Amino acid sequence: MSQPTAGDAGTIDVGGDLTVNRLGFGAMRITGDGIWGDPPDREEAKAVLRRAVELGVNFIDTADSYGPNVSEELIGEALAPYPDDLVIATKAGLIRPAAGRWDPDGRPEHIKEACEGSLRRLKLDQIPLYQYHRVDPNVPLEDSIGAFVELKEQGKVRHIGVSNFTEEQIRRAQAITPIVSLQNRYNLSDRGSESLVDLCEQEQLAFLPWAPIQDHTDNAYVQQLAEKYGATPYQIVLAWLLARSPSILPIPGTGSIKHLEENIAAAGIKLSAADVSVLTTGKE
Ligand SMILES: NC(=O)c1ccc[n+]([C@@H]2O[C@H](COP(=O)([O-])OP(=O)(O)OC[C@H]3O[C@@H](n4cnc5c(N)ncnc54)[C@H](OP(=O)(O)O)[C@@H]3O)[C@@H](O)[C@H]2O)c1
Repeated sequence: MSQPTAGDAGTIDVGGDLTVNRLGFGAMRITGDGIWGDPPDREEAKAVLRRAVELGVNFIDTADSYGPNVSEELIGEALAPYPDDLVIATKAGLIRPAAGRWDPDGRPEHIKEACEGSLRRLKLDQIPLYQYHRVDPNVPLEDSIGAFVELKEQGKVRHIGVSNFTEEQIRRAQAITPIVSLQNRYNLSDRGSESLVDLCEQEQLAFLPWAPIQDHTDNAYVQQLAEKYGATPYQIVLAWLLARSPSILPIPGTGSIKHLEENIAAAGIKLSAADVSVLTTGKE
């Protein structure tokens, strides 16, 4: 069988005007261990990025804090000048003073400075989707989002997204400016953001589940369906995410071309409604 491509998952409109294939790539895992420093082989990491694009991926998620800077640098080196349809989503709001630390910094001056760095490393004039990584408890959310709005008004950012937000925080952000996407941890086993997936579907926000292919190893139904569909468990949980809601845009991450190809091939798997229901409810 030929290798399915990201387009087999259909498309989604991010912010109403950026149409992308509904299986993206998360570029956090192309850095060093602990998302710190360089990967073992920078050329291999760039090859993963190029292969993703070859396989139809036109939505890549990253952040200035991955490395830090390394993931964005590799994307710029491997892929710029970018294909017209490639949407890069990056984030600001976390700093990495040392390995193992992810400290919030939502001060407006930091967000604006971070944007300049991301534009430079990514070799972009405008960031298509700029996401506030996580609310800084020491800075009013309105002030941080206000900085994103300023960047949008200056043309440095096209759309604003948020990450690790509660519904209450989404509402506060929406009171200031249109929010086009939410990126929260969500997968078959971690359903803490279940109601937010529904909210995104109702309000036409893209929902970007992070850790999309984790936490499934002890799920017996996943194993059974992998056998039934002649697929791997990773592909089954991705196919479930695609079926769960048309608002979901999964961004599985890997530093391996083999895993990338396996993950993208999930775009070609259409689970039956009954199988989706068994996975969703955990009951036959
Ligand atoms: N907003 C946030 O706070 C936040 C937090 C975390 C992540 N993210 C974003 O979400 C993306 C995905 O999250 P994630 O990387 O934590 O989780 P993930 O995509 O669910 O899992 C990635 C892990 O699974 C492994 N893997 C990938 N494909 C595999 C396969 N086919 N078979 C076996 N192992 C496989 C990877 O290792 P190998 O490299 O060895 O394949 C890696 O360790 C990130 O890249 C990042 O863009 C956002």
